[in-house]
Amino acid sequence: MCSIQELQDEAERLGYAVLVAEGSAIVMAIIQTGKIDAIVGVSCINVLERAFPFMESAAIPGIAIPLLQDDCRDTTVDIEWVWDVIHLSSEDKTRRLNLDELRREVDSWFEQASLAEVLGPAQSATEEISREWLSKKGKRWRPFLAACAFKALQADPDAPLPPGLRHVAVAVECFHKASLIHDDIEDNDAERYDEKTLHEEHGMAVALNAGDFLLGEGYRVLALSDAPATIKSEMIRIASQGHRTLCVGQGAELCWARQPEPLSSLEVLGIFRQKTAPAFEVALLLGAAYAGALDEELSEVLSNYSEALGIAYQIRDDLDDLRSDGAANDLAALRPSLPLAIAHEKSKGAQQELMTRVWQHDPTLENVAETLQEIMAKLGVEERCEKLLESYKEEAIRSLVDLENSSLKGLLRRVIGKIFVMQVEGWCNEFETRNAASGAVVAKAAG
Ligand code: IPE
Ligand code: MG
Repeated sequence: MCSIQELQDEAERLGYAVLVAEGSAIVMAIIQTGKIDAIVGVSCINVLERAFPFMESAAIPGIAIPLLQDDCRDTTVDIEWVWDVIHLSSEDKTRRLNLDELRREVDSWFEQASLAEVLGPAQSATEEISREWLSKKGKRWRPFLAACAFKALQADPDAPLPPGLRHVAVAVECFHKASLIHDDIEDNDAERYDEKTLHEEHGMAVALNAGDFLLGEGYRVLALSDAPATIKSEMIRIASQGHRTLCVGQGAELCWARQPEPLSSLEVLGIFRQKTAPAFEVALLLGAAYAGALDEELSEVLSNYSEALGIAYQIRDDLDDLRSDGAANDLAALRPSLPLAIAHEKSKGAQQELMTRVWQHDPTLENVAETLQEIMAKLGVEERCEKLLESYKEEAIRSLVDLENSSLKGLLRRVIGKIFVMQVEGWCNEFETRNAASGAVVAKAAG
């Protein structure tokens, strides 16, 4: 009923998706889709101030137009200013990838038929068991990250993905899946993906061998890729370096378990850095190397990003465990976990003595699980873990500041949102319900 209607009509005529919202979760969700070329934000200044850092870190160009009157009802805006701005145009060289499409493509690489193309036909029991494990389940974040890095750095943005990228992605997943087989043996875990672990299913010796086999397959597939020799040797160096660090991290945990003593949260985070970050780092570095774009600077950014991402990922894993079984599993497996470290650090006196005995795996302790749950709740352990998780997610985003390539910058920023399903709460609730109802329509229009 006001001049906004006129603006909306004109903007839509120009091809804009017009969204009536105050920097709410929907705006963030649409940014994450990667289908947004630019944003003209018209809102009160404090909302604009909060929304723009998100756009900046997603490498989405934008212009902010503050309302002349800061009020949710009687707003006024400089119509001519908005009019001028929506008619601006420029050649945009930033590539915003369709992450969902890329994900689907990466997932398809792990279907049996596709794996057979890369690895050759499975001709023995060992090949079959390993390949089934490779194709069965998993979130495929690591091969996806390799594909993301490649795609953002690819010399010709419109070229289809080269077949050799599939080799790189499969190698990355081979390394990861091998590490999971061995990790399940080392931790004596009976279940993964809500099913039996490989050693439960086939016995310890066969599982151990399947893990070894997949490690070899990873290196073999890298060697088979169509990359030039110098890049290939760089890729093998990257993979072996990651393999090494991961084993050092796993080893720190396993050696600790021979005579367990309480660890500080910093020490636990140090183990996370070594055991969980390398798989992400290898994935990104390999994707970048295969694109022929890896230099020292990029390598450093990707390493820092992976480190923060890996730590955040492992904290979330600990949090999931804490929520599902109150750390009982970490206890049984004798795993140093962040909740246990924080509980020990925060407790005092008799309670801390008890936590020390928990860490030492004192067999005379009774009803440990319940007592632990009480202590954790009282000390606010879960909340503390959540805070740390948030800070490492932010750290991952901050690590991208110096990245020159805006396509990669925006993409890696969005990947954090995807992996951790980021929710940004609405700041001005008035429109939330309305947007929730029309969200799908708007998202479609944006595409
Ligand atoms: C498992 O990783 C090991 C951890 C770092 C927690 P994922 O949970 O990503 O395993 P997949 O990829 O789904 O198999
Ligand atoms: Mg383990």
